[in-house]
Amino acid sequence: MVRNRFMATEGSHDWYHIERVRNIALLLAEKEGGNKEVIELAALLHDLEDYKLKDHLAAVPTIHQWLKQEGVEKEIADKIITMIDEVSFKGSGVETRCSSLESMILQDADRLDAIGAIGIARAFAYGGKKGNPIFLPDEKPTLHTSFEDYKQNNGSTIQHFHEKLLHIKDRINTQTAKHLAKERHQFMETFLQQIFQELNLKKMELHDGE
Ligand code: NI
Repeated sequence: MVRNRFMATEGSHDWYHIERVRNIALLLAEKEGGNKEVIELAALLHDLEDYKLKDHLAAVPTIHQWLKQEGVEKEIADKIITMIDEVSFKGSGVETRCSSLESMILQDADRLDAIGAIGIARAFAYGGKKGNPIFLPDEKPTLHTSFEDYKQNNGSTIQHFHEKLLHIKDRINTQTAKHLAKERHQFMETFLQQIFQELNLKKMELHDGE
């Protein structure tokens, strides 16, 4: 059902994102514990309601309706709904609290897929879909700055790194995910250093040619 629903969505939130989140979540559960059935179901369903409102997708049942219709026990269904509420919270400055280990694992899995090489690819896919620029020349490409400094959004995808993606590693719950997040974070920093170097170089060349 989820695969069918996500067939027509663009790369930042497609079926393969769902599949990766499921796989990462199960890997984390292997190391950290938690109820795997609950984790897997919640991972598969976690983006469903965000997308049911999109015009290119047909109306879908709510997660609650679907779980009920499939005969999932009420206790498990309630837990899954709580986990999805917690993972999809979009508070900027406020940390999302997880009420269970399963919820922490799902949140970590979704966040891991937002950083590293895949996170970069997804960010530009999403920015492209929204029609956002890759980079704006007036932006200040400082890597280590406070969130507040960069809160004013002028819409480029590079800006999104400062607003969100570079903060993710500090908001990971489990030790296993922290370890994975560290490498992915470092790769994003390398990417940003390189792109700024290239952009500045080009600017210098243009300047010299004037
Ligand atoms: Ni997601």
